[in-house]
Amino acid sequence: MSETPPHDTADVLVVGSGIAGCAAALQAAREDAEVLLVTKAERPTDASTDWAQGGISTARGDPEALKRDVLAASDGTADPDAVDVLVREADAAVEDVLLETLEIPFDERENGAFDYAREAAHSERRILHVDAATGTHILRPFLNYLDDHERVEVRQDTAVLELITHEGRVHGVLTDEDATGHPVYAGATVLATGGIGALYLRSTNPEGATGDGIAMAALAGADVADLEYVQFHPTAFDGEDPFLLSEALRGEGAVLRDADGDRFMDDYHPDAELAPRDVVARAVAAEREATGEVVLDVQTLEGDFEDEFPGIAENCRDRGIDGYQIPVAPCEHFLCGGIDVDHDGRTSLEGLYAVGECTRTGVHGANRLASTSLLEGLVWGLRAGETVVGCEAKPRVVDAPTLRDSDPALPERFAAEKFRRLRRTMAEQLGLERDPDGIARASAVLRRLKGEVDAYTRTRTSRELYELRNACVTALLIARAAGENAESRGCHHLVTEESTAAESTADD
Ligand code: SIN
Repeated sequence: MSETPPHDTADVLVVGSGIAGCAAALQAAREDAEVLLVTKAERPTDASTDWAQGGISTARGDPEALKRDVLAASDGTADPDAVDVLVREADAAVEDVLLETLEIPFDERENGAFDYAREAAHSERRILHVDAATGTHILRPFLNYLDDHERVEVRQDTAVLELITHEGRVHGVLTDEDATGHPVYAGATVLATGGIGALYLRSTNPEGATGDGIAMAALAGADVADLEYVQFHPTAFDGEDPFLLSEALRGEGAVLRDADGDRFMDDYHPDAELAPRDVVARAVAAEREATGEVVLDVQTLEGDFEDEFPGIAENCRDRGIDGYQIPVAPCEHFLCGGIDVDHDGRTSLEGLYAVGECTRTGVHGANRLASTSLLEGLVWGLRAGETVVGCEAKPRVVDAPTLRDSDPALPERFAAEKFRRLRRTMAEQLGLERDPDGIARASAVLRRLKGEVDAYTRTRTSRELYELRNACVTALLIARAAGENAESRGCHHLVTEESTAAESTADD
């Protein structure tokens, strides 16, 4: 009898260490499952959750009001049933996990009540935050809690290279712990791999955001949806090494000015600086192009900039900005679509679940409302964690593919050059504004690029090469989705000859 090669097993395998993965792991462990959480991140700071500034939206006792805001921000494209799940479970999830279990010290007012913040397109103050570094204050205690949990093992610096599929079911993954791929078999595999910022020249995501989960799921045959809706944040620092200037700044009174010092948002939307994110991002880009610069003026804040937003103020000082006028430009921030999942995180493949930014739950439609991404990760993470245990599948050892022996000598230049080409293509043709010819050109470039990477992968293997392959696959899927959607809506803004003619008629 042939010997089974070295492998690991877990009832539930979670891939990714942001809030969604942590929530899925927590809930599965609470239900008595043995959970293994693997992440390619070497430090917590490598997960997008750690970079989240503004905060986490609650419903603040009024789910219907939050639902109206989510639907309005999405321009009516979000799925009302999915939004219902989000808003109905928001307050209980925050109370249970963030307040009672993790005791996150959200900012309070002098009277001891929570200091709920307001952000763009929210009709009321309902966002819990810790300074403007909320993600850090949530994620680190969350990972520490899971590290100490007897039913959870957290394995960092462990990349997943492939899903193991057998007879149409997902049975786990191959990690890079062995040179030829280390099988981890699981009753349920939950992808929580985050976003796609590394596919763009400028992004507010960590550099590991290479679309891994989306690519691996799609290659295994899972359905994906809404990938054309790539959200750009309107106010990232306009310079080398961009960082986020949270929506919370505009929520607290900061305003946008063009190069002449004039405010302009009133010309674009009745809610001015508090308009939905896609509207503000396009306005900032247009004014920047027309006048040369756009700044976020933080002198108009109701409170003191340094006191209220110490982390952002420090980032500004580090870039040599001492005053109150901070140059800003839109920057890739979030993917509204992803692996298609139901209300419990089930994908179209048996045994495979997904949560967080790598998914399309329907909650965001064509444009996400600020501070709902941590909330979506938390709510769907908890639901998926409960569901996977309920399905009672046990890990099964099946035939796993064997990868070529790793070649650590992947020429850095190969990966760097391909990534540069991919990022330039995405930024130029699949950015804030797209046109059908540009999308078609991007698809052609990306197809060629993927062919070159595939040829390379036939002889070598390494984590970097898999990240590059995943980035190519995800970029191609985004280009395909954009090419197939002729309706300009939310983050998928098409500029065609007809739309330009219609705009100039409206201006006359
Ligand atoms: C921000 O702080 O502006 C980001 C919030 C979000 O993306 O939801």
